[in-house]
Amino acid sequence: MARGGAAGLAGFGLGLALFVFTVPLLLRSCRFSEPQAEGARRRPVGFSAQEKEQLREALRGAIRIPTVSFSPGKVATSAMEEFSAYIRKVFPGVFSSSFVQHEVIGGYSHLFTVQGSDPHLQPYVLLAHLDVVPASDEGWEVPPFSAQERDGFLYGRGTLDDKNAAIGILQALEFLLKRQYRPVRSFYIGIGHDEEVSGNDGARKIAAKLERAGVRLSFVSDEGLAVLEGVVKGISEPVALVGTTEKGAITLTLTVHSEPGHSSFPPKETSIGILAAAVSRLEQNPMPSLFGKGPELVTFEQLATQFAFPLNVVMGNLWLFAPVVGRVLEREPSTSALVRTTTALTLFHAGVKANVIPPFANATVNFRIHPAQTVEEVLELVRATVADERVKLNVQDAFDPLPVSPYDEDSFGFQIIRRTIHEVFSEVSMVAPGVCIGNTDSRHFVNLTDSIYRFSPIWLKREDLGRIHGLNERISLEMYERGVQFYFHLMENSDIAQLPKPHKSAHEL
Ligand SMILES: *[C@@H]1O[C@H](CO)[C@@H](O)[C@H](O)[C@H]1NC(C)=O
Ligand SMILES: *[C@@H]1O[C@H](CO)[C@@H](O)[C@H](O)[C@H]1NC(C)=O
Ligand SMILES: [Zn+2]
Repeated sequence: MARGGAAGLAGFGLGLALFVFTVPLLLRSCRFSEPQAEGARRRPVGFSAQEKEQLREALRGAIRIPTVSFSPGKVATSAMEEFSAYIRKVFPGVFSSSFVQHEVIGGYSHLFTVQGSDPHLQPYVLLAHLDVVPASDEGWEVPPFSAQERDGFLYGRGTLDDKNAAIGILQALEFLLKRQYRPVRSFYIGIGHDEEVSGNDGARKIAAKLERAGVRLSFVSDEGLAVLEGVVKGISEPVALVGTTEKGAITLTLTVHSEPGHSSFPPKETSIGILAAAVSRLEQNPMPSLFGKGPELVTFEQLATQFAFPLNVVMGNLWLFAPVVGRVLEREPSTSALVRTTTALTLFHAGVKANVIPPFANATVNFRIHPAQTVEEVLELVRATVADERVKLNVQDAFDPLPVSPYDEDSFGFQIIRRTIHEVFSEVSMVAPGVCIGNTDSRHFVNLTDSIYRFSPIWLKREDLGRIHGLNERISLEMYERGVQFYFHLMENSDIAQLPKPHKSAHEL
C-alpha cells in the first residue's frame, strides 16, 4: 500500500449517537442480509507443525532483507537481488515445477506463470510487492529489519505491507505443489519491487507484458483493505472489506515569480506572500463532500445490519440519512478522506537570503481524488480557488480514480475472494466492498480486466492502523498462517469454471 491504507474507516466517531432519532422509518433497515457462506465446503487445510515452522521462518528471513524503496528510480538494489536469491532458496518447489515459469521483470520484480490444465478458463493474477518504505531504529521496540518475535507477533517493516503477501502467495503455491496440486485455471503471480514509489518499473511492466501477449484477466487480487475489528466505530464484530476501487491523485506545483530586489525597499507583495495566500486558500476551502455520490455509500449500506441500534437503522436508510452521515464523516481526517477529494500541502520552497526579495517561490500540493470526481474537475476547482494569474499551476503527475469493479452475485473474482475470506476467517460476519484511499500496484492492470480487488488477508484492530508505514509494524504469527491459508484456498477456489448458481437467502424479502 502506498500511503493511505486501510485507515479510511477508522475514527468513525459517532456524533450520530447524539442524533435524536424521531423518524419511524425502520422497515428498510434489513434489506441487506449476508447470504450464508455456501456450506458443504472443504474445511480449511491444516498445515503440519513442520510446515508452520517453515512458513514462519520463510517470512522471518524475508523481513530481514531491507528491500527499501526511497524514491522513484531509487531502490535498494542489492537487497532486492538478495531477495531474488532468497525466494529461489526457500521455495524450491515453485522454481522447479514443470508448469510454473518464472521471469524477472524490470530488474527486480517477479512474474510467475502457473499453467492450468484447462486453457479455456480465463487466468487471474495475484499481486504483491516486495519493497518496503524506509524505517530507522528510532521509536521501534526492536530494530525494524531484525524480525524478532514477541508475544506471538513477528515485528518488522513489511510484515503487514506487503511481504506477508509476497511470501505468503509463494508459500501457498509451494505447499499446494507439495500436495501434487495442478491448477485447472491458469494464473499469474506478480511481485513488484517499486510499489511504494509508483510501480512504474515493476507492476507497470508486468501489466504491459501481459497486455502485449493479448492476455485478458478474469480478475486481479492485490493488497488493500482487510479484516477490520473495532475499526469501524459502531460495529464490534470483525468485518472484511474488499477494495473495489481506489482514489485518484494529482501532484500539483504552484509557482510564483517576482522581481528580485533588496529587502530595504520591498514591493507591496512578494512571491512568498502571493504563494502563501494561494495555498492557504486551498487549505481553507476543502473540496466538497461527495458522500452519497461514490461507492463508499454501498459500504455503509451493506454493513448496515452489523451496526448496533440505532445506527443499523440510520445506515439501512441512507436514502434518507446520507446527508447527516456525510457530515459526521467529514469531521475527522481519516473519514473525511472517504467522502471528499483531500488537499495536502506537502512542499514549500522559497527564499535565498535574509535580506533579499526572493525571485520565486513554489509549493507542491497533493490531492487524492474521490471516486465521483475526475482530475479535470479537481483542477477546475483549484483554478477557481487560487484565482490569481500570478500563480502558475503545473501538474507533475495525475490519474483519475480507478473504475469501480463489480461486486454482485455474478462477479467471479469478488465472490471467490468473499468465499475464501469466510472459509479462512470464519469469525468475519460480513464481507463488503470498500474504497481504498491509498494506491496499489493493481491500478496498472486496468487495461487487462474490469475486476480488480484489493484485500490483504490480515486482521487489523484500530491500534494496528498506525503501524502500516509507521512504528512497530508487526503481524500475529497465527494470522500470518491464516494469510497463507487464504492464498492456498484462493488458488483452489478459483479452479471452478463458473460460480455456482446463487440461491436466495432465507432472509431476503
Ligand atoms: C521548487 O523550487 C526548488 C528550490 O528552488 C527547486 O529545487 C524545485 O525544483 C522547484 N520545484 C518545481 C517543481 O519547480
Ligand atoms: C491503458 O490504455 C490506455 C489507452 O491505450 C493508455 O493510455 C493507458 O496508459 C493504459 N493504462 C495503463 C495503466 O497501462
Ligand atoms: Zn503496500
